[in-house]
Amino acid sequence: MTKTHPFILTVTLLLAACTETPKPGAEALASAKPSYDEPHRPQFHFTPAEAWMNDPNGLYYLDGVYHMSYQYYPDSTVWGPMHWGHATSTDLVHWQEQPIAIYPDSLGYIFSGSAVVDTRNTSGFGRDSVPPVVAVFTQHDPLALEAGRTDFQNQSLAYSPDQGRSWQKYAGNPVLRNDTGIQDFRDPKVIWHGESNQWVMALAVYDRVRFYGSPNLKDWAYLSEFGIPGDTRLWECPDLFPLRMPGSRELKWVLLVSIQKDGPTGGTGTSYFVGDFDGTTFRANPAAQQWLDYGADNYAFVTFDHAQVGWGQRLGIGWMSNWQYAQQVPTHPWRSAMTLPRMLELGQNGDTYFLKALPVPAVSSLWSSETTLPAEIDDGLEVTGAFSPSQCELALDMDLEQTTAEIFGCTLSNEAGEHLVIAFHRLENKVVVDRSNSGPRGFSDEFYKGPHTAPLDFSRAGLDLRIFFDRASAELFADGGRLNLTEIFFPQSPYTRMRLWTRGGKWVLQDGKVYGLDSIWQGEAAAR
Ligand code: FRU
Repeated sequence: MTKTHPFILTVTLLLAACTETPKPGAEALASAKPSYDEPHRPQFHFTPAEAWMNDPNGLYYLDGVYHMSYQYYPDSTVWGPMHWGHATSTDLVHWQEQPIAIYPDSLGYIFSGSAVVDTRNTSGFGRDSVPPVVAVFTQHDPLALEAGRTDFQNQSLAYSPDQGRSWQKYAGNPVLRNDTGIQDFRDPKVIWHGESNQWVMALAVYDRVRFYGSPNLKDWAYLSEFGIPGDTRLWECPDLFPLRMPGSRELKWVLLVSIQKDGPTGGTGTSYFVGDFDGTTFRANPAAQQWLDYGADNYAFVTFDHAQVGWGQRLGIGWMSNWQYAQQVPTHPWRSAMTLPRMLELGQNGDTYFLKALPVPAVSSLWSSETTLPAEIDDGLEVTGAFSPSQCELALDMDLEQTTAEIFGCTLSNEAGEHLVIAFHRLENKVVVDRSNSGPRGFSDEFYKGPHTAPLDFSRAGLDLRIFFDRASAELFADGGRLNLTEIFFPQSPYTRMRLWTRGGKWVLQDGKVYGLDSIWQGEAAAR
């Protein structure tokens, strides 16, 4: 019944390290200051200045500031005793790294979890009518794991009286002990459920999500569980939230679940269900599991608490990597980036509800140049302009009635002959991303096992497409955000050429633009 997460192997090597000053990990950090301009350093995605990062944690908005914590190991560029790093932003585009928010302690490492703005002060942690922010996270105890116990993951609290600048652990930790006999018991995501007047926690428990309810964030009672009968893949980082159908009063509930194995490209991936929640039970057709992103590199995607976006939208962000190779990718002195923050909305096709996700509009504030493409692309077009192909947005509004090409695509390449190919197969209704020759890939056998394919319906009059290239990543959004596809790659030198090409006819655009994008790091680099 139990199953061991790959990092549990690593954990056993890092035993006794759960103090505020963990032992150095396996890979030393650079001695020089990070320049934010190292090879493969994303220019408009969040990365920590240095060291290892994975899942986004404790996301919330308060008084004009977005707060993002994340799984962080400050002493190495590989996974180790987890802390919560912390970054803030006022526009979701420019991020300032802050001091570490939460350190491991004698109860264990600080694994993934969430944070809520407790506006009613149900927890009693607030003082002088300032609402406390309460973080709810898993404490993973490596010593209990080593001792062969099954209850080494339990849920704890920390609270901040000053909007997230400083954190205090709750003296009564852990607040939810693992009494299930199942090892994997983690990643609490909490929301306020007004109808039942309680906090509701979604918790990943091996191959399912368990829901718990609480009046005060300290006392938790089991409510129900949700899983797929017969499916024993490991689930992580759940997130339950309501969404209204745009233009209607219909309210649905979305359950995001990250899956450790057999994601859309074989490794880890973020999936979701759309259903109903009555304060106790989540009901969805378990067969109706869908992928939030068809690429290899969007994991542990979770959403912000208290973001002022209305009932029809939900703001979230994902970890832009894959556990299959995340610890081997050739970046230094940091490892991993977050995806662009994305706004989720519901869509409907007959009886099927689905999510659409688009980058937050503020990304356009980075536009530094605009290059207009011709209305027709026949054979091939080398796109040149005041932008760098490795740091730009390609935005296309396609005329599919006039388009006759069977296949059309975009290739980025460099002087070394390395290239990333994104091809649209109109007759087969699919997109194919090929990173086989995108750069050296000897760092991991798992990185390339074949091209990645996603469904995309071309049998309509028009189709919108946006692709964001940021040195070592491409994020593709098509069909109003219905298709997301996120991929990372590591060319020896930046891609300097962008070529649009066709096979078997012409590719017709209603509108086509390439926008150069500014770096978000000038201020950060200067401040260090
Ligand atoms: C997901 C995850 C979580 C866990 C964290 C540990 O990537 O495995 O389940 O809390 O990472 O860093």
